[in-house]
Amino acid sequence: MMPPGAGGGATSVGRMCGIVGFTGSSSAAAPGPEGLAVVLEGLRRLEYRGYDSAGVAVLADGPGADGTPPGLTSAKRAGRLARLVEALEESPLLEGSTAIGHTRWATHGGPTDANAHPHLSADGRLAVIHNGIIENYAVLKAELQAEGVVFASETDTEVVTHLLARTLAEQPAGGAGALAESMRRVCRQLDGAFTLLAVHADSPGTVVGARRNSPLVVGLGDGANYLGSDVAAFIAHTKEALELGQDQVVQITATAVEVTGFDGTPVTPRAFTVDWDAEAAEKGGHPWFMDKEIHEQPKAVADTLLGRSDAAGAMVLDELRIDESTLRGIDKIIVIACGTAAFAGYVAKYAIEHWCRIPVEVDLAHEFRYRDPVLTPRTLVVAISQSGETMDVVMAVRHAREQGAKVLAICNTRGSTIPRESDAALYTHAGPEVAVASTKAFLAQITACYLLGLYLAQLRGNLFPDEVAAVIGQLHAVPAAVQEVLDGAEAVRALARELVDAPTVLFLGRHVGYPVALEGALKLKELAYIHAEGFAAGELKHGPIALVEPGQPVFVIVPSPRGRDSLHAKVISNAAEVRARGARTIAIAEVGDDAVLPHADVVIRVPAVPTLMAPLVTVVPLQIFAMEVATAKGYDVDQPRNLAKSVTVE
Ligand code: M6R
Repeated sequence: MMPPGAGGGATSVGRMCGIVGFTGSSSAAAPGPEGLAVVLEGLRRLEYRGYDSAGVAVLADGPGADGTPPGLTSAKRAGRLARLVEALEESPLLEGSTAIGHTRWATHGGPTDANAHPHLSADGRLAVIHNGIIENYAVLKAELQAEGVVFASETDTEVVTHLLARTLAEQPAGGAGALAESMRRVCRQLDGAFTLLAVHADSPGTVVGARRNSPLVVGLGDGANYLGSDVAAFIAHTKEALELGQDQVVQITATAVEVTGFDGTPVTPRAFTVDWDAEAAEKGGHPWFMDKEIHEQPKAVADTLLGRSDAAGAMVLDELRIDESTLRGIDKIIVIACGTAAFAGYVAKYAIEHWCRIPVEVDLAHEFRYRDPVLTPRTLVVAISQSGETMDVVMAVRHAREQGAKVLAICNTRGSTIPRESDAALYTHAGPEVAVASTKAFLAQITACYLLGLYLAQLRGNLFPDEVAAVIGQLHAVPAAVQEVLDGAEAVRALARELVDAPTVLFLGRHVGYPVALEGALKLKELAYIHAEGFAAGELKHGPIALVEPGQPVFVIVPSPRGRDSLHAKVISNAAEVRARGARTIAIAEVGDDAVLPHADVVIRVPAVPTLMAPLVTVVPLQIFAMEVATAKGYDVDQPRNLAKSVTVE
């Protein structure tokens, strides 16, 4: 949130924005790639990170039309990126091969043109963009105001701009590296979380970036270099990238990348190659990214399983960097995650406890450290995050490690903060997830958790090799089962069109069906803005059943009748209880389960799979349902209101 005293009344602004920087070779005689085009393309790919406003700044290669010397030219607009593009068509910027761009997300306060980034110095020669929060903003602002600095926006970012301009003015004129050195000096004065990019008219062909607790990666091009909040910013141009660590400043030119700590110590960043290409981050003929990502789920599961078992069926997890004796000695697992990733953790709890006989707790990452959790060197903390940048999870990971626990990250994004700061990483291979609503990452996270559970069970001797192999076989059958659901989804789509005006929808599940119910409700809330609740089916009669009125839609996730204990019968009873009170019951039930028929108004069929595999299949109709309701309502499925893909503020 914006620090106190930010002005403008109750304005409290936090950002998890998209940031792009680019510089390519250029001279007046041989102009390089057009910086603006590269940056706008990057912003288009990053818009899922925030879409309240957008802005760009370009260092012009040559003089202006009126003969003014080369300088900085910029534009910014409240609203979606398209509004900025329209504005640029009406009033084009000067051409240049060095540029920065920003797409913003705000938690409070109306997004305005003035608050959009970049923020310029008083002389208009310096531009700064920012993701994060400057926590000591108010103190710094007061100091600057006392010196006569006039602020043009309500943002904390503008403090950095003026501090940087002031520090730069104190550097030897035109000194090489003056912008980077000034950035280091300014960063040492800042508290909070930030990724910053800056360009200055006196540093042609140079972009300087800095990061603390907010994401920033470098893209290495041929005669050009890139900076981005994530690799999507430059994936159209290069797959070769560098990870930046905490408290580092980077300076890019067309031919060089220099990284130092905030204290100026040179750093050699870790290189990595992105394992997906630009096409994977395009809609590919689907109406929404979410639709494409839902259809990629069979592949996401299959790719996450790839190469993880040997010819004899035994588990091989080569990304694990925690030694086997430590893993054998684990006496508790705590899963930390947020949103959909946390629901994957709830599913994993049932499987891991069943296979490994280790107690598993699941904590929302933002609650974890505040409850003073009991952590010892024998605790394994499993941090699940698609983006690898969710700040609540980052902070929880740090807390766990400080307390001596081992942390294993299950993550979809190479080069991101969470796996880098963990003791081990197990990557999901879902490919880029662009839609704000998580779908294929959920299935891949459950798959990865299961792999971890099987690995531990094998290592600790809880399961025999043939038992592990049997479950691996069940996992390998999941992609075909998910495909079957996708192929037969018309009934769900029709149901969505019918229920488009439902004011509230309830979801019931038991055992692994419970987190599926929670996920079904979350999808409907975030995409269709319909009030929805997921309940443990057994909890109904302890209160929530009072909500049921005639006509109330209630989804019931029905376990397999071939499953364990009396789960199936219990859930059927719960369906009967709500139907007896007038609910319109929609059963998600396996093919051939006729016991459900007397208790369901609608039955959505899914293929028969073993109990622990069921969440990977039964969640799919719920994802499609939410997407279709949102589409029918005319909402933007990929960028629902008030949300951003990656929540990089606490
Ligand atoms: O990138 P992460 O997996 O850490 O993100 C966690 C949540 O923010 C995310 O799953 C969120 O709940 C999605 N919008 C759900 O669709």
